[in-house]
Parts: sequence; structure tokens; C-alpha cells
Amino acid sequence: MVVSFPSGFRWGVATSAYQIEGAASLGGRGPSIWDTFATVPGAVANGDTGDVAADHYHRWVDDMRLLIDLGVDAYRFSVSWSRILPDGWGRIEQRGLDFYRRLVESLLDNEIEPFLTLYHWDLPQALEDRGGWRDRDTSYRFADYAATVHEALGDVVSKWTTLNEPYCSAIVGYGEGRHAPGAREGHGALAAAHHLLLGHGLAVQAMRANGLPGQEFGIVLNQSPTVPVTSSPADVAAASRQDCLLRRQFTDPLFGSAYPDELTSMFSEISDFSFRHDEDLSIIGEPLDYVGLNYYYRLHVADAPHREPDPAKRTAHDIGVDTTQLPDVPRTGMGWPVEPVGLITALTDLKARHPGLPPVYVTENGCVYPDTEGFEDTDRIAYLRDHIAAAEAAPGVDLRGYFCWSLLDNFEWAHGYKHRFGLIHVDYQTQQRTPRASYHWYRSFITQARQQG
Ligand code: NOJ
Repeated sequence: MVVSFPSGFRWGVATSAYQIEGAASLGGRGPSIWDTFATVPGAVANGDTGDVAADHYHRWVDDMRLLIDLGVDAYRFSVSWSRILPDGWGRIEQRGLDFYRRLVESLLDNEIEPFLTLYHWDLPQALEDRGGWRDRDTSYRFADYAATVHEALGDVVSKWTTLNEPYCSAIVGYGEGRHAPGAREGHGALAAAHHLLLGHGLAVQAMRANGLPGQEFGIVLNQSPTVPVTSSPADVAAASRQDCLLRRQFTDPLFGSAYPDELTSMFSEISDFSFRHDEDLSIIGEPLDYVGLNYYYRLHVADAPHREPDPAKRTAHDIGVDTTQLPDVPRTGMGWPVEPVGLITALTDLKARHPGLPPVYVTENGCVYPDTEGFEDTDRIAYLRDHIAAAEAAPGVDLRGYFCWSLLDNFEWAHGYKHRFGLIHVDYQTQQRTPRASYHWYRSFITQARQQG
């Protein structure tokens, strides 16, 4: 494969705290909403929890070795908020900060750049008990947490991502109820989206106020381009609603200036948007140094009846759209359509809508396939190869790096451990790690890309 990414382009892999660490009650860590949610019968497939996960908390040195051997330039990981602040705010747990400092120092010793994410969905349960992201106070608690981690690690980390996929936290967590905290709300879910964005802006301001040189701040957004299944006005309108909920609700206030009017009118029956205060947009629009884009698939949507006939009782996920339509293309083991072209449009759509967009990283891209004997995951290799080629083909986008999801198999949220995204297989009985063929492929690919860059 011939590649022509610029020199300095970062090749990396990504993980997140709850999905790999385990040690849920060790080192002084407080419970998070995912600890609670995973114990609700039926919430997670097979009753799986993140209590042990890939036991990365104890095995991070082994994982580091695998990371070094892989030859990546960068590693994207997240910090568990309740490892640092077990109650969400107030008392600081030094053992939590020490864990991440050791990890980061080891990365730097091996010339791997840390990309730290502050929030990958694991809100401290103590804050959920006070309303969680529905409550404006959580935005301020998040900024305090960000400032605490930044004060402790700002000398060794320069890439700071506030939130990972706020759409999932707000709409999947508080609207659809498929993720923690498992709420099915209208106004509450929209308030959560707003408070996540507000928390993001406040956190960037708080970290910038520390005045450390060379620091870069960003956010990571999931960007599934939405395609109407027909050109009928009803399907086109449905696609627009879906796009508004998933993408523009976040990108417009972050990079434009205001929330889309379509969002406000779409939900006029369930929310008065009283959670939006005059000063918030300028905080949310705090300039960023980069934006991370996660891409897995395109959404093919059709107009559909609302699940709840009474508009006033609808959740923020019930927008009269059928997202189960599938094009006639191969699918991954999750059933997701394989459409690399969607990565091109995800990148170019974002740039077209926001010409002043900061530099971009593809912060997640990857897939699940059933394992074959010998872990010869040729489907995964093809998926990665074709998506990297798509990223390269996106015109006019200042793309600075690509992170494969994921370094190793992990807790795939409501799917539990059944679906495996890793370049490295994890045997959850023994915690043995076995690199798949894709791991070796990615290593050679990176070497080649560096020579050509
Ligand atoms: C995006 C999320 O950030 C990550 O946590 C998840 O595992 C992947 N998508 C795959 O679903």
C-alpha cells in the first residue's frame, strides 16, 4: 500500500479506562455510573461488568511492551474520573494520579506521545446521584476535575481531550437508555448534551488558565454521515433530523456559534431549553487546537413513526427515524456496514460546514470480526487498510493523525466482552495477550508509512 501522509503524522492506537482497566474498587477508586449500570439485570449482555476487564491496571507494563513493539507514535487513553476524585469532587486520590503518571512517563521514555482523554463516559456515581449531566453543577465539577488532572500531569502531557463522543453520553445514556446511566428522557437528555458541552468549554478555560506552554486542547466527536434511503422529502427530512441530533447539535456550537434552529424546533414539545444561559455559547465555543473524529459507519435512515405518539412524552432519541436500514455492502461482526467512503465524507463534511476547523485527528476507527484459528484477521486488516486510504483521500482537511480502535480487546459497553475490537486478543480467563495478524500488519504499515512520509 502506497501512502503519502505528511512527516510528523501520528500513527496510534486508542483505549479507554473503564473498557480496559478493571480494578474497579482498588487504589481508592470510587464507583462510576458504568459500575452501577453494569449491575442492572439486562443492561449489559451476558451480565458482563468492567470489574476486571483486561486487568490493564495491573498489567499496564505488559501492555506497554506491546505498544512499544507495535511502533506507534501516539497512544490515546482515558483517565477514570473516580480514580482521581472518588466522590466526583473534593478529595483527591493521589494513587489515581500516580497510576497515570507512571503510564505517561513510560510512554514518554519510549517516545510515544500521550493523548489523554478526561471523560470517556464514566461519570462518578456520586455526581449522578446529584443529577448527573442533567445538572449544570456537573459542568463545573468537570472543569475542577480537568484542572486537577492538568495541574498534576500538565508537565508530561500536552494533548488534552475533554470529552469522548458527548452524543453517546447524552443521547444514548440519558435518552435511549442503552448506556449508563440508563435514563430514557427528553428534556433531561438535551440538558445533558448542553451541560457536557458547557463542561468541555469550562474545562478548556480552566486548563488554559494554568498557563503551561505547548498545551493543546480538543474534543472527540463521533461523526456518522447520515444518508436518506430514498430521495423522498420524508426520508431526506428524517436524515436531517438524525444528523442534527448526532452531529450538528455538537459541532455547530463548538465551531460555529449557535445551536441549529432545527434542534430547537425538533424538540419544542419536550424542552423549553431553559438550561441554555446567555453566556454559555461563548464558553462552549472556546477555540480549540484540534478536533478528534471517530468513524465506524454511515447511517442509512428512513422516516418512521415515533415510538411514543404523545410528543410531550417523547425521549430525545425518539425522532421519527429508522436507523436500522442497511445498504447492500459487507458488514462487520457488529453488523455495521463497511463503507470507507463515509470516512472521507465525515472529514470533508465537517470541514465544509466549519471552514475555520482546527487540525483533525481520526481518534478512533476499527472493527469486530469473529476470530479464526491463529488470529488471522484478514477482514480487520482490509478494513483498516481501506479506511486509512479513505482518510488519506479526504481533500482539504488538515489531518494530523490516525488512531486504531483498539490496542486490545475490551469491554464493549452494553455488548460486554462478546465483541472484540483489539489488534491484540485477550483471553479473559487467563488475561493472556496474543497479537492478531492485524497487529503485525499495522506495525509494518507504520514502518512503511514513516519511510514514505
Ligand atoms: C466509540 C467509543 O468511543 C468506544 O468506547 C467504543 O468501544 C467504540 N466506539 C466501538 O464501539
